[in-house]
Amino acid sequence: MSAIQPFDMVLFGGTGDLVMRKLLPALYHQHQDGNLPEQGRILCLGRSQPDHAAYLATAEKAARQYLGDYFNEQDWATFAGRLHYLKLDAGDRAAYAALADKLNEAPEHVRVFYLATAPNLFAGICENLASVGLNKGGARVVLEKPLGHDLASSQAINAQVGKFFKESQIYRIDHYLGKEAVQNLLALRFSNTFFEPLWRREWISDVQITVTEQVGVEGRGDFYDKAGALRDMVQNHLVQLLCFIAMEPPASVDPDAVRDEKLKVLRALRRFGPQEVAQKSVRGQYKAGASNGRPAIGYQDEAGITPSSKTETFVALKAEIDTWRWAGVPFYLRTGKRMQERLAEIVINFRQVPHSIFQLPTNSTSNRLVIRLQPEESVEMYLLAKQPGDQMKLKQVHLDLDFKESFKVRSPDAYERLLTDVIRGRLTLFMRRDELDEAWKWVEPILDAWEQNDEPPKSYTAGTWGPAASSALLSRDGFCWHEEG
Ligand code: BG6
Repeated sequence: MSAIQPFDMVLFGGTGDLVMRKLLPALYHQHQDGNLPEQGRILCLGRSQPDHAAYLATAEKAARQYLGDYFNEQDWATFAGRLHYLKLDAGDRAAYAALADKLNEAPEHVRVFYLATAPNLFAGICENLASVGLNKGGARVVLEKPLGHDLASSQAINAQVGKFFKESQIYRIDHYLGKEAVQNLLALRFSNTFFEPLWRREWISDVQITVTEQVGVEGRGDFYDKAGALRDMVQNHLVQLLCFIAMEPPASVDPDAVRDEKLKVLRALRRFGPQEVAQKSVRGQYKAGASNGRPAIGYQDEAGITPSSKTETFVALKAEIDTWRWAGVPFYLRTGKRMQERLAEIVINFRQVPHSIFQLPTNSTSNRLVIRLQPEESVEMYLLAKQPGDQMKLKQVHLDLDFKESFKVRSPDAYERLLTDVIRGRLTLFMRRDELDEAWKWVEPILDAWEQNDEPPKSYTAGTWGPAASSALLSRDGFCWHEEG
């Protein structure tokens, strides 16, 4: 892999949660592993810290918390040497001159502006950067989700940012694409011979994508109540995973080769009408229960939630892709908060053999591929084999590729990969504007139908697998969720 060029990484929202919890730890890991060039600076912009010393103290405290055993005094001391705090109000254009001065100390550095702020600030920040010429040359801007609330607001943000930065300078981040297991999905599909011939409707019965969390809204009630699970997780993370599973083999890993293929999948996703929304979607909301052995309050009692809120904390959907490869294969998507387990996995169920000369075990598919992203990264292949003994009794066994065991190296966090990709100028794992539009076009009719429906979401007890209707969605088609079968 090519070395990382000297860079200036400018973090807007530098005192915020994302920077402290994810971005600084990711950069620290890369620093600790010796991957960052000496001339790599991290400029943290914010308002809440009075000066550099105060900022460093806060950042160190957060680093100790989030890095755990990886925190090392000596490494932190050298890493802290890269950090520069600039007290700056993102909306104050006059303040950008100081930023430009700082950056112009090193004009040869790759410039990355990471907007870890609320999206309503994106346009103003880009305009202010442009006012002092900081959008020029190889400058890159990274946009965090949520990119809008619906198609129109997402298009408005993209249009405003697009006035100051070219599409090739814009990195729309979906951190799920930086997860190792997701890239392994690409490696599995496109570097092995035996998956591709089977990767189609003739051999696959159904696909399940599950991303469940044990946590609730974690103090983000205000934001979450306006978003809900469909916007927060499905429109981006789950849809992106679906694209990687369903896309045709791209000609190369060039950004547009991959993104063109994903776009075709998004365009082929069958649109929901109000009737389909009723039949093929389930929205749920958690009520009081337990989480990890402790009592957990219901969604309506969390801070920041409007009384009688109808916001969904759980979604299950049946998606269909109208292509020759996938016609008739349901893609079941499911995500939720306050669920029984923290789990992110993709399950590919293969069809039964056309004629079996043995008695097959009931209630299980013969072959199943499970790509697990969380809590551990693994790939499991389920097969039927003969149980030892004098009878021809079959049992499901699995081949297990545990990445921790197989590679014995630390698996980098998604943000490590994505941040270094931005510095390297690699756009493949970032979303293009047209992809985002298509994803919104697909989810918007579902949001509209829910909005117009007076029925509240189905309630489920915190700490379970969601409302019963989620299992019914699959059982109507003769399938069941992975943990049920
Ligand atoms: C974010 C959502 O995009 O992803 C959060 O806004 C969610 O609500 C998070 O908790 C989950 O990410 P991960 O990597 O912990 O699965």
